[in-house]
Amino acid sequence: MKNQNSSKHKMRTSLLWVALFAFFIFGCSSAPVEKAQLPSADEIANGNVENGLKLFMGNVHLENGGPPCMGCHSVADNGILGGGALGPNLTNITAEKSEAEILGLLSNTGSFISPVMLPIYTDHPLTTQEQSDLLAFMKSSAGQPETDKEWLVIVISILGTVGVAIAFGIIYRDRLRNVRRAMVRKAEKELL
Ligand code: HEC
Repeated sequence: MKNQNSSKHKMRTSLLWVALFAFFIFGCSSAPVEKAQLPSADEIANGNVENGLKLFMGNVHLENGGPPCMGCHSVADNGILGGGALGPNLTNITAEKSEAEILGLLSNTGSFISPVMLPIYTDHPLTTQEQSDLLAFMKSSAGQPETDKEWLVIVISILGTVGVAIAFGIIYRDRLRNVRRAMVRKAEKELL
């Protein structure tokens, strides 16, 4: 009788440990993110261009922690060095793709998806407000000149390389001269 009791007790304690462990594991994992949803027609109509620009450029953080679009895309004349070049330039995207296609891509709900963006924005979905603002911003950029800032990046790299070369030249010029001077002095001494 006593034995039975203690084994029951043991089982209860181990169950308690399992429960505690499970609680710990699930408690530590981040809260499950909600799946992205499509914005309503009202939300789309009220998309804010200014806010879309800030979201695109990363001046305002995306609510669910996704990376800003400009990491991979440029639109019109953004930033001093332009955006990333992994994704296509989106200046005229609203002329090339329908709203439904673009929103389907941003919410990962459509058939038109980007294999690169899909995993990122599945884990960090864009809110319906963010999608509407980004769409408004992309619409507003249609027809603007696409400035290709690649030449600026190249010029800066060349200037940087030349600058480093000059700096090394200045640093090592004196060293070589000092070595040479010492050698000349030594040779003079030996000759005299
Ligand atoms: C990690 C890089 C990356 C980020 C960040 C990213 N994109 Fe993309 N995007 C791509 C790539 C690459 C493509 C081209 C399709 C492909 O190869 O996956 C693309 C395609 C697109 C397209 C379709 C372009 C076309 O011509 O078909 C749109 C619209 C778009 N992205 C919008 C956005 C917006 C808005 C954001 C910010 C919320 C964003 N992207 C963030 C990489 C990225």
